[in-house]
Amino acid sequence: MRMKMRNRQRKPSASCWNGGGRCSLPVIIWGLVGCIIVIHLCSLVRYKDTGAAHVGFGRRTVFRELEEVEEESFQIPPPRGKRSPRAVKRRGPRKQPTAVDEFLDESSDLRPFFFPDRRSAIGPTKEGNDSMYFCPARIWLDTEGNPIQAHGGGILFDEKRETYYWYGENKDGETYHAHKQGAARVDVIGVSCYSSKDLWTWKYEGIALPGEETNVTHDLHRSNVLERPKVLYNDRTGQYIMWMHVDDVNYTKASVGVAVANSPTGPFEYLYSKRPHGFESRDMTVFKDDDGKAYLVYSSEDNSELHIGPLTDDYLDVTRFMRRILVGQHREAPALFKHESTYYMITSDCTGWAPNRALVHAAESIMGPWETMGTPCVGGNKIFRMTTFFSQGTFVLPLPGLPGSYIFMADRWNPSELRDSRYVWLPLTIGGVADEPLEYNFGFPLWSRVSIYWHRRWRLPEGWRTAYT
Ligand SMILES: *[C@@H]1O[C@H](CO)[C@@H](O)[C@H](O)[C@H]1NC(C)=O
Ligand SMILES: *[C@@H]1O[C@H](CO)[C@@H](O)[C@H](O)[C@H]1NC(C)=O
Ligand SMILES: *[C@@H]1O[C@H](CO)[C@@H](O)[C@H](O)[C@H]1NC(C)=O
Repeated sequence: MRMKMRNRQRKPSASCWNGGGRCSLPVIIWGLVGCIIVIHLCSLVRYKDTGAAHVGFGRRTVFRELEEVEEESFQIPPPRGKRSPRAVKRRGPRKQPTAVDEFLDESSDLRPFFFPDRRSAIGPTKEGNDSMYFCPARIWLDTEGNPIQAHGGGILFDEKRETYYWYGENKDGETYHAHKQGAARVDVIGVSCYSSKDLWTWKYEGIALPGEETNVTHDLHRSNVLERPKVLYNDRTGQYIMWMHVDDVNYTKASVGVAVANSPTGPFEYLYSKRPHGFESRDMTVFKDDDGKAYLVYSSEDNSELHIGPLTDDYLDVTRFMRRILVGQHREAPALFKHESTYYMITSDCTGWAPNRALVHAAESIMGPWETMGTPCVGGNKIFRMTTFFSQGTFVLPLPGLPGSYIFMADRWNPSELRDSRYVWLPLTIGGVADEPLEYNFGFPLWSRVSIYWHRRWRLPEGWRTAYT
């Protein structure tokens, strides 16, 4: 960008050349230099265009609209006298509320802004012009007209069925606190499964892995915790393997759970839980690489670092290999993806249900070292970007027809009514030069920038399914 500007400024000297006579020799020389630079740049751009092949060109034109910056303005109202008792307890009587306080305050005037009501719901059963549009934070209905219950979720594309499956926590129960210091929670109901061909029309396939009603010693007893379920397909065994965070009500068990099924919609058979590599494991994800090798990533050591390690060939367990990454950075909610030969990960800060700033990390090798880049969020406004659009990431879904383009999936948690938590899906692209300094890069950007663009309403561009030819 800066280069272009400089060249534009040189243009007057070119017209000066035409005028003749009045120009001094240095100006003429600089004009010539400018021309040469412009010609050189033009040839470079042309070279790049052919070099990047049709995919890059297609993606650029098709995705340009989604890369436009959409601003968002809202103001935090001045403190009022009346507050809910819970809000008073949380923040004390007289304190200027922050945007996050306001977000967490169920009696806030901004409530309908953060959690739009049922009238603005989107989904295949609704009439109107929002069909096929992703509308972050608005209620999203399935094909039966019920709000989708798939929180902390992830998506599996099943090649045989050419269908997407969305797995997530079914939180359609009462929100309560198990004890005074306990976080807001909902009993374990199970892992929902939804299917779709177009990523917008979701059919409820039922509870793929149910919670346990009666057996109190069972990991999935409803008094426990089941979070962030993710499913992988194993090409060798033909099985679907679900990994999830399994915990007790106080988050002291800190384990991963594993379940397996022969069909993407389940029923999944719960196998066991364990502390991977003998370490605490809370927020986690799994990632299947191009070569069929899969990895588990989890927050450990009191959420102060992440651990990463390969799964066994059948994906039913971890191996003994593990690396500590992002040590001392206190990150959770990892979502891993790959572009060309680089691995990327988006994580959140650890602030419970409250939203915070997402960061991007990148690595040449999945086992590390991982380097931390800045926040990927673009648009909205500063508060939006500092709170990841008031949400927490859970998964990044590649769009197969548009290499370098993804859907960033996040949860806008509603801790006063967890079942009413919303989905924030936004376009994510990889490209261009990183705009924030990285660690140890001596001023040279090593990684392309990862950007998540805020949109109140957006849809997938044509050709997202299949590659351009
Ligand atoms: C959708 O329809 C509503 C009501 O008919 C209208 O107010 C709104 O402007 C429309 N939105 C778009 C983007 O066309
Ligand atoms: C209850 O769950 C535990 C742990 O999964 C299991 O060992 C036990 O057999 C179960 N009890 C019954 C009655 O199913
Ligand atoms: C959780 O912590 C509370 C308060 O410290 C305690 O009363 C309760 O017994 C604990 N529950 C479990 C299952 O550890």
